[in-house]
Amino acid sequence: MAITYASYLKLDRLLDLQEPKSSPPEHDEMLFIVIHQTYELWFKLLLHETDKVMADLTANDLFGAIATFKRIRTIMKTLVGQLDILETMTPLSFSSFRSRLDTASGFQSYQFREVEFVFGYKRGNVTHPIPDTEAGKAKAIARLDQPSVVDAFYRFLAQRGAAVPVALLERDVREATKPSEELQEEIFRLYRTQPELVILFELMTDFDEGMQEWRYRHVKLVERTIGAKKGTGGSAGVEFLKQSLFMPLFPDLWAVRHRM
Ligand code: HEM
Repeated sequence: MAITYASYLKLDRLLDLQEPKSSPPEHDEMLFIVIHQTYELWFKLLLHETDKVMADLTANDLFGAIATFKRIRTIMKTLVGQLDILETMTPLSFSSFRSRLDTASGFQSYQFREVEFVFGYKRGNVTHPIPDTEAGKAKAIARLDQPSVVDAFYRFLAQRGAAVPVALLERDVREATKPSEELQEEIFRLYRTQPELVILFELMTDFDEGMQEWRYRHVKLVERTIGAKKGTGGSAGVEFLKQSLFMPLFPDLWAVRHRM
């Protein structure tokens, strides 16, 4: 049988995966499901591309890393923009089906945790809300022990002749990224001497800014939709989410900017 658009994309299966729980149906529940499913698909691609960028950096392939980071940051910016669609849902409309979610929450998104961990924002305790029955939980936990994009970045810079501190190259990769003043000196030097590297640094900064924008927009979405209510996942809600605001993934790329 010839491959068709629908058979290649498994469209019938895909379009059968939206199962609102409200009875009688609440109109906005479909939006809520579709938007979350869409996010998870983009997270899947983001992780796929991130594995590629780590391989590019490790292989000292600058142009590969630039092309891939360009895609990664464009996905991230799209993720930020999509929150606009969900903000067309009023608090009243959300509360009409919120109880149907029970304790389900984005808190349990194992792919989002994978994204955080692979970019070096490692916090073991955030895997606790993910039920042990979720197949993806083990993958998220495994990422905690693996080198992050930042570790691959250190190796890449060392291969390009930068004086990367040995302590960074030999650090315990299970730890979260920490800023390094020594590395900042090198990055500052490279900004003035290696314009091709600057293209990569700026794309990484774009992505980092995009992730921070997403967190801010998500907090505001949560605040306008549920105000000071607790999260369905059991956290304090807005106050909990605020803790991750303005936390850079690549602190050394931000720390040098005032010197230029
Ligand atoms: C009406 C819309 C939404 C509301 C009211 C909402 C609410 C919340 C709340 C209260 C939390 C804190 C954890 C908890 O106690 O549940 C949370 C976490 C989270 N939500 Fe949402 N959310 C919404 C939409 C979304 C969307 C569209 C996504 C896209 C994937 C998302 C992803 C996440 C993630 C990844 C976390 C964990 C964040 C972290 O730990 O820093 N949420 N959400």
